[in-house]
Amino acid sequence: MKFCEISIGLISVCMLFGFVQSEQPYIVKNEGWEYFNGIFETTFHLGEMKIIGRQRYINGTIKFTEDMASDHFSFQIELYSCPQGEKNFKLLPMGVPRTPICEGLKELFPKVLQASFIEGENTNFPFVPDEGLCPIPMGEYYIKNLEFDTDSWPNHIIRGLLKAKLTFFKDAINVGGGALIMRVEDRE
Ligand SMILES: *[C@@H]1O[C@H](CO)[C@@H](O)[C@H](O)[C@H]1NC(C)=O
Repeated sequence: MKFCEISIGLISVCMLFGFVQSEQPYIVKNEGWEYFNGIFETTFHLGEMKIIGRQRYINGTIKFTEDMASDHFSFQIELYSCPQGEKNFKLLPMGVPRTPICEGLKELFPKVLQASFIEGENTNFPFVPDEGLCPIPMGEYYIKNLEFDTDSWPNHIIRGLLKAKLTFFKDAINVGGGALIMRVEDRE
């Protein structure tokens, strides 16, 4: 009993001071941001996003102009790498092939984004529960000074510049998207 109390106390103290960290062997810095409109219409707007400050936070707003459910909407993520740091990106055989939006978000969110997007703190995008969030409600969502928490990311990520390109589709036609360019370096 006593031991438990002490352990819990210790763990809290450690967490408070950041002694306990499941650190990845790499660090990820946000380098840049690109966005594009859809072919005929744009229902997914990423144009108001920026990388700001010395910490290179992601900041801005994203906008969905329609409720998005899997009956019409899907997305894909392509990953590109350029290990030498020159901007000569090559498509990697990873990423997420075109997936119905609700299933895709449900699968991806806990693995990649949940630790970084804290509703009410750095975004008003709703928390995605285990059972998913469907449809994804139309609206404008802010993202404030976001830094990726990579604890739930894979341990092995290729070093150098990494570009994650997200494209949304409505009835298989591109309706907008964007790409985040990150720099992945060894943790010293
Ligand atoms: C960050 O984003 C918020 C919300 O969109 C905006 O109001 C603010 O001006 C942005 N800050 C900077 C420094 O761009």
